[in-house]
Amino acid sequence: MQTAVFNKLRTLIYNSSGICLNQDKTALVTARVSKRMRKLRLADYGKYLQCVLEDSTGQEIQHLLDAISTNVTSFYREPEHFNFLRGILKIWAAEKAKKIRMWSAACSTGEEPYTMAIEAKESTGNHPMEYKILATDINSDVLVTAQSGEYPEDRIAPIPKHIRTKYFTTIKEGGSKSYLIREEIRNMVVFRQFNLSVFPFPLRNRLDIIFCRNVMIYFDTELRAKLVAEFSRLLKPGGYLMLGHAESISRACGGFRCLRPSIYQKE
Ligand SMILES: C[S@@+](CC[C@H](N)C(=O)[O-])C[C@H]1O[C@@H](n2cnc3c(N)ncnc32)[C@H](O)[C@@H]1O
Repeated sequence: MQTAVFNKLRTLIYNSSGICLNQDKTALVTARVSKRMRKLRLADYGKYLQCVLEDSTGQEIQHLLDAISTNVTSFYREPEHFNFLRGILKIWAAEKAKKIRMWSAACSTGEEPYTMAIEAKESTGNHPMEYKILATDINSDVLVTAQSGEYPEDRIAPIPKHIRTKYFTTIKEGGSKSYLIREEIRNMVVFRQFNLSVFPFPLRNRLDIIFCRNVMIYFDTELRAKLVAEFSRLLKPGGYLMLGHAESISRACGGFRCLRPSIYQKE
């Protein structure tokens, strides 16, 4: 891909999602854009750029973001966060809390919010606590998978066997097996498309817990700081923010107490 085209594409991507792509990402962008171009039967990167720029519907920029965003995730990824979650949910259940609101702010294909929902069910015991889990992502493709709640065998491998048996049903089609998450878990999660680089966030109710893991690594310092300030505005005092293991809040941001690496509490 020519440098001029790459630079224009990366500016478009940055302006519409906050995702920063340095020059060393040329090969990655080329590979991902090429895939999209094959679908459109385009062979020239310049022509593809023109196609994005001329599309007044905004659909092609969405396809571009769907192609570019990295969606790696898994059930029980970074399990310390879920151990911590279990602990606080048990405390809130013992305190007879009524309603808990959680947000998985870059949910990818749904493994993160469904793990949150499973842990919520497992932690509450007999206390009738209502859970609302909002799960959002900028990528429209991943949300289709997330909403289906269906995963192939290798994706459910990190889930402990007793949890798998309890919350998934097996679907057999031909020789292949897949697993469908049970309705009681699916109904706890609401999926929406949502861009973390557009402020202020249109959320009406304050939250108890936000998971925003492994997405800030794609953003620059300025956007990260804005995001943290917005999370602080949306969390209840004492609410929790979980970041990815490779992520942290800069001291300059303020408003949060670091409880453990990548786990923060709003002051
Ligand atoms: C690596 S995945 C992380 C998934 C999950 N949180 C985890 O840790 O396993 C990053 C996700 O962030 C999403 N993303 C990237 N930029 C975004 C933005 N501006 N707004 C919302 N989501 C975004 C991507 O589409 C992708 O699904």
